[in-house]
Amino acid sequence: MQDINEIIQRRRAIFPKTYLPGKPIDKAIIEQLLENAHWAPTHRLTEPWRFQVFHSLESRQALSDMMVDFYKRNTPAESFSEEKMKKSGDNPLLSGAVIALVMQRDPEARIPEWEEIAAVAMAVQNMWLSCTAIGLGCYWSSPRAALEADDFLTLEPGQRCLGLFYLGWHDMPQLPGKRGPIAEKTIWR
Ligand SMILES: Cc1cc2nc3c(=O)[nH]c(=O)nc-3n(C[C@H](O)[C@H](O)[C@H](O)COP(=O)(O)O)c2cc1C
Repeated sequence: MQDINEIIQRRRAIFPKTYLPGKPIDKAIIEQLLENAHWAPTHRLTEPWRFQVFHSLESRQALSDMMVDFYKRNTPAESFSEEKMKKSGDNPLLSGAVIALVMQRDPEARIPEWEEIAAVAMAVQNMWLSCTAIGLGCYWSSPRAALEADDFLTLEPGQRCLGLFYLGWHDMPQLPGKRGPIAEKTIWR
């Protein structure tokens, strides 16, 4: 119990600007993360998680370009900033890998959509805790550029992108967590 308590409480969102540049993530590690994701609970065994891995520099560059283009197309002239535009594509290039998080709706809609989104979120938590266990930084990001990237990701019918999972090695000290008391959110009946 102590082992899992420690990993759960040590888990943090670690952002790409703190990732060590040029330190690659082995494909085998990413495969293990995906395998752990795959063991999340899933109502009716729909296994609604789909993942698109951007590992090579070329693929991360394409993701970055898409995000810059999204900023250009969706930012009104009065709030447009050249600097923000450039920055909008930084994260994929600062990361060792990025995983697009996609939910596949059950074609027969045997369970409500929220249960499939919940199952994908549990799969993400499995990856996040696995990263924590091996000291790999990561975080779930949900920018509009990703949520509306159906064309870029060539999503199939019933698929919906729920965000991007950034990954990278880091040497940051343990960040303190911020949570209120659980007792305030609990009623014992
Ligand atoms: C579904 C989901 C979407 C998130 N999207 C973003 C995001 O777009 N930008 C961001 O900075 N953090 C995002 N986060 C990460 C949270 O900001 C982070 O978990 C929170 O600050 C608590 O920090 P901790 O995870 O280190 O405890 C997201 C988390 C979840 C679960």
